[in-house]
Amino acid sequence: MVSLLENPLRVGLQQQGMAEPQVIVIFGASGDLTWRKLVPALFKLRRERRIPPETTIVGVARRDWSHNYFREQMEKGMREAHPKVELGELWQDFCQGLFYCAGDIDNPEGYQKLKNFLAELDPQRGTRGNRMFYLSVAPNFFPEAIKQLGGAGMLEDPYKHRLVIEKPFGRDLASAQSLNQVVQKVCKENQVYRIDHYLGKETVQNLLVFRFANAIFEPLWNRQFVDHVQITVAETVGVEDRAGYYEKSGALRDMLQNHLMQLYCLTAMEAPNSMDADSIRTEKVKVLQATRLADVNNLSRSAIRGQYSGGWMKGQPVAGYREEPGVDPNSTTPTYVAMKFVVDNWRWQGVPFYLRTGKRMPKKVSEISIHFREVPSRMFPSAALQANANILTMRIQPNEGISLRFDVKMPGGDFRTRSVDMDFTYGSFGIEATSDAYDRLFLDCMMGDQTLFTRSDEVEAAWRVVTPALSVWDLPSDPDTVPQYEAGTWEPAEAELLINQDGRRWRRL
Ligand code: BG6
Repeated sequence: MVSLLENPLRVGLQQQGMAEPQVIVIFGASGDLTWRKLVPALFKLRRERRIPPETTIVGVARRDWSHNYFREQMEKGMREAHPKVELGELWQDFCQGLFYCAGDIDNPEGYQKLKNFLAELDPQRGTRGNRMFYLSVAPNFFPEAIKQLGGAGMLEDPYKHRLVIEKPFGRDLASAQSLNQVVQKVCKENQVYRIDHYLGKETVQNLLVFRFANAIFEPLWNRQFVDHVQITVAETVGVEDRAGYYEKSGALRDMLQNHLMQLYCLTAMEAPNSMDADSIRTEKVKVLQATRLADVNNLSRSAIRGQYSGGWMKGQPVAGYREEPGVDPNSTTPTYVAMKFVVDNWRWQGVPFYLRTGKRMPKKVSEISIHFREVPSRMFPSAALQANANILTMRIQPNEGISLRFDVKMPGGDFRTRSVDMDFTYGSFGIEATSDAYDRLFLDCMMGDQTLFTRSDEVEAAWRVVTPALSVWDLPSDPDTVPQYEAGTWEPAEAELLINQDGRRWRRL
């Protein structure tokens, strides 16, 4: 038997060992992501001895900070975001590898200064010319930063220079295509790491293992046995202090086009030829190419947007989206979106995939549920009013795990049935499956493994699927036409209809 997971030639997804010493340059280093996620992820890797002590981080941002001030800010951030992590001597040593270089995104001099500074660091830190440029800046700055890096000759070496681009990659198909062109002018695809942090989650990677390392599910994973699939990513948080970004983005661009569509691809794709980056990414592209919104001529039958209005969360009143600081009181930006995808291929013809995501929902929960067809004839009285279909649920977060729902006979004289769940939780391993995912993604990038990053054609194919909805929702519209849902409740009524019209219901979570 050929083993995809053990083939030594196929190193994708199997990173072990230690990355080479390198300098990680973070553009936008004064932003939240750097102290909240990026630096803590790198420190975690250092604690776990997955990256060498020579690893060097250079923060780049506009503000005129000194190296020491940057180090202090990172330490303060670590203490705030990860109070349980002991810093101690290792942190002191790690801190010596933190530097800061002020610069404007559009100023070529800043890039020359950075280039010279990195060259000075190489002999001092033993980083051998290896560079990772991490763009953690507002998406509208991506093209300029990439052009400037290219212009300064900092992406010339396809083996030593890597470019990491945070999401969102473009804001629609046309802008993603033009950003890809900018990227392709200055570097090769094998240098580019488009981040979707959902791919760094253990439970997301486990989708591949669950599907392709077990023989019993694959025969059921198709239109013969599956009635429909639901993918939910619900959050309790609102827009927080990110109105500036979110107003231009909204739930479709912020969550569905990337995180949910990655979950979708891994659920719907065919088995890859091997576990290397390109085989997996090719299968994802193929399924995206076969995917479309259910009814593009009648958008309300395939895509619904919504916006949270004021309500209650955990007993506290919370503001509606339009009352949040920085949000236009007439905003039409969706904080909720639900879509129905259909897939024109042999496996999934006739099986709808319903995707939904929203902020200010009653619960934080991300899961994929496979709803199997009902039995052809109901022979037993059920404790529930409706027939109970078998449901396989993959819980991405929290309470990470997998459960299978099936019916059993209730104890007693008759044949009454009841649904029960057979459950696996990651907690039973005694190790945490929930990291912020950035550690895994950093390490893969440092080791040159692109499996968990999005390829140029993949990102474009995902935009193509949602374009019919974007092109309508992006037009100026009357704010009253955007369906509202109260903060702390599930979707707007229109989104219930989206699935009810097919005789199905959203899972109550
Ligand atoms: C980010 C979005 O990509 O993902 C945020 O920009 C969202 O709006 C976050 O809150 C959710 O990530 P997670 O890992 O908490 O599900």
